[in-house]
Amino acid sequence: MLCISVKEFLLWKKKQLSKGGDKQSFAFLLDCVGGVSDNDLNLIIINPQGNLYLKKNLEFLESIWDDHLLNSCPIQYLCGITFWRDFKLIVSNKVLIPRPETELIVDIVFNIFRKKSEKLFFAELGTGSGAISIALSLAYPLSEGVATDIDQDALEIATKNFINSSKQSNLKFCSGNWWSPLERFKGNLDLAISNPPYIPRDTYEKLPKEVKNFEPKVALFGGEDGLKHIREIIQKAPLFLKEKGWLILENHFDQSEKVKELLIKNKFTSIEIVKDLSGIGRFTIGRYK
Ligand SMILES: C[S@@+](CC[C@H](N)C(=O)[O-])C[C@H]1O[C@@H](n2cnc3c(N)ncnc32)[C@H](O)[C@@H]1O
Repeated sequence: MLCISVKEFLLWKKKQLSKGGDKQSFAFLLDCVGGVSDNDLNLIIINPQGNLYLKKNLEFLESIWDDHLLNSCPIQYLCGITFWRDFKLIVSNKVLIPRPETELIVDIVFNIFRKKSEKLFFAELGTGSGAISIALSLAYPLSEGVATDIDQDALEIATKNFINSSKQSNLKFCSGNWWSPLERFKGNLDLAISNPPYIPRDTYEKLPKEVKNFEPKVALFGGEDGLKHIREIIQKAPLFLKEKGWLILENHFDQSEKVKELLIKNKFTSIEIVKDLSGIGRFTIGRYK
């Protein structure tokens, strides 16, 4: 730990924020790399004559901040971590930074499977950092889960995140294209979840540079109309779900009605469009027969 005066720190902080960027990202950097939480910041304002302890020196923190401002690299990638629900997860540019709206998928599952003692057998297709599967494995300790991804690097990160978050062993990681790693579980899944790449080409081309230049294309791009992967997932889902098994999909803000049609066409029932906290039909869910 490095000790510096609060006065020096506050002057430095003011200088950094005057360069641009948002306060939230700066606070994220101070917390994750500097070891100075929001709470610490509130306390030093009460006692500006005191000292402050930092995990890294100001030059190091400044170099990360400058990199963020200059190249628009997401602060989570530069710090190597993100927060999602109550988890602290490792992230690198091999995985999508899990979004706050995706946190709701876990609540949708909680609403469907109300008993935490449930012996669920679930699969997540396209796990990325592992966020959703880790949250479910911990919430349902008697469950068995399989988290898949086409990207082996992503699976390595997801595995590390699971080990860091839990002492449980009820989640396995398998690589491959959508349903292919799940061949041996055909007809056995109570639940399949996916937040697949769903951004249509036009939108992908216009994404902000902090997303397009840094987050993996394989995690974002969903083909011409954005529905390429969703179509494939829905079409094959009936082979893998148990009778009355659930499929939960995240989709782009304007895709819910089309996803609903695809579910109907593939004989799903109990179909529902679930809105996110901004009132957008972000999730489409259904039951196989
Ligand atoms: C939108 S990201 C979602 C990541 C994570 N589940 C989340 O919600 O933050 C989509 C994920 O699907 C994976 N993916 C893309 N194409 C795939 C495919 N053909 N088969 C399996 N996974 C795929 C990507 O590598 C990426 O991790």
